[in-house]
Amino acid sequence: KPRLYSGMQPSADSLQIGNYIGALMQWRDLQESYDAFFSVVDLHALTQPNDPSELREKTRRTAAQYIAAGIEPAKSTLYVQSHVRAHAELAWVLSTITGFGEAGRMTQFKDKSARYGTDATNVGLFTYPVLMAADILLYQTDIVPVGDDQKQHVELTRDLAERFNSRFGEAFRVPKPVIQKDTARIYDLQNPTSKMSKSAESDAGVLWLLDDPSKSAKKVMRAVTDSEGVVRYDRDEKPGVSNLLVIYAALTGREITSIEDEYAGRGYGDFKKGLAEVVVSEFGPVRERALELLDDPAELDRVLAANAARAEEVADRTLGDVYDKLGLLRRV
Ligand code: TYM
Repeated sequence: KPRLYSGMQPSADSLQIGNYIGALMQWRDLQESYDAFFSVVDLHALTQPNDPSELREKTRRTAAQYIAAGIEPAKSTLYVQSHVRAHAELAWVLSTITGFGEAGRMTQFKDKSARYGTDATNVGLFTYPVLMAADILLYQTDIVPVGDDQKQHVELTRDLAERFNSRFGEAFRVPKPVIQKDTARIYDLQNPTSKMSKSAESDAGVLWLLDDPSKSAKKVMRAVTDSEGVVRYDRDEKPGVSNLLVIYAALTGREITSIEDEYAGRGYGDFKKGLAEVVVSEFGPVRERALELLDDPAELDRVLAANAARAEEVADRTLGDVYDKLGLLRRV
């Protein structure tokens, strides 16, 4: 089977619906036909200020949500990034073949350093995409399913793989990003021209997977729309309604046009009520299952440990080959 790799940061108590629609739903489907590796990238999360005890809990919560959403740890390898030491080691190696300017051109870094100022920006934020490249390349990955905000990082990963292979000999498979066109970007419900994000300034436009379903329903009812009153997809003129239509279609597997037809001649109130019901019925069971898993952290930790052992085997093989090709003296 071809290999698949993807991951998420444990940067909040809950995933948001963009993570679910943009990534997790694809992961769940693709795990059938790929040898899939899914990580909780806790080392990446260190680039933001974190309370140590909270980070541990967020890491478990993220893993629990993967499983609750349908990732099967007996079928796919679901593990915590820091459990496999090769990630940090390969990241160092790759940083030595990454250009300073090349890393500086990553838009996510540029945005973050512009927002916080370079003095408040740490070097880890700058090398973040290099660690991500290490994640992917350790596993001889064929495809990387992500939302479109991660595409540039996967392109960098491809460049680094090709560069290493041509300088030192074939050590890496060159991966391809896989981006689901329609759902690659879910927008904030209150601010439908900016991406829904775990780190949004206001909570009102973010739907959390683990929130009380009635709270999510209320947020849907209060989502920003427009004054036209027609349920119709038009990204430019009607970003709010279009975003809700995309969410509706993604969660039900229906075509947008069929939803437009269903709500033709009815107001936004009806449409939002319909979507709120969809959101509640989709997330209710995922939330329950995740909370159940979190009730038994020892069992969850055991599953993660077994999966980390599986990941480590693959990762160590790649890293050993890389060290040999670089001419590092092996410890005998
Ligand atoms: P992260 O944790 O920010 O997001 C996890 C996944 O969710 C997608 N996503 C979205 N998709 C659609 N609409 C949105 N509003 C939305 N918000 C987030 C992201 O595109 C991503 O697929 N650097 C990565 C984590 C990572 C990784 C990797 C991914 C580390 N190593 C190796 C793939 C392969 C990140 O911060 O994702």
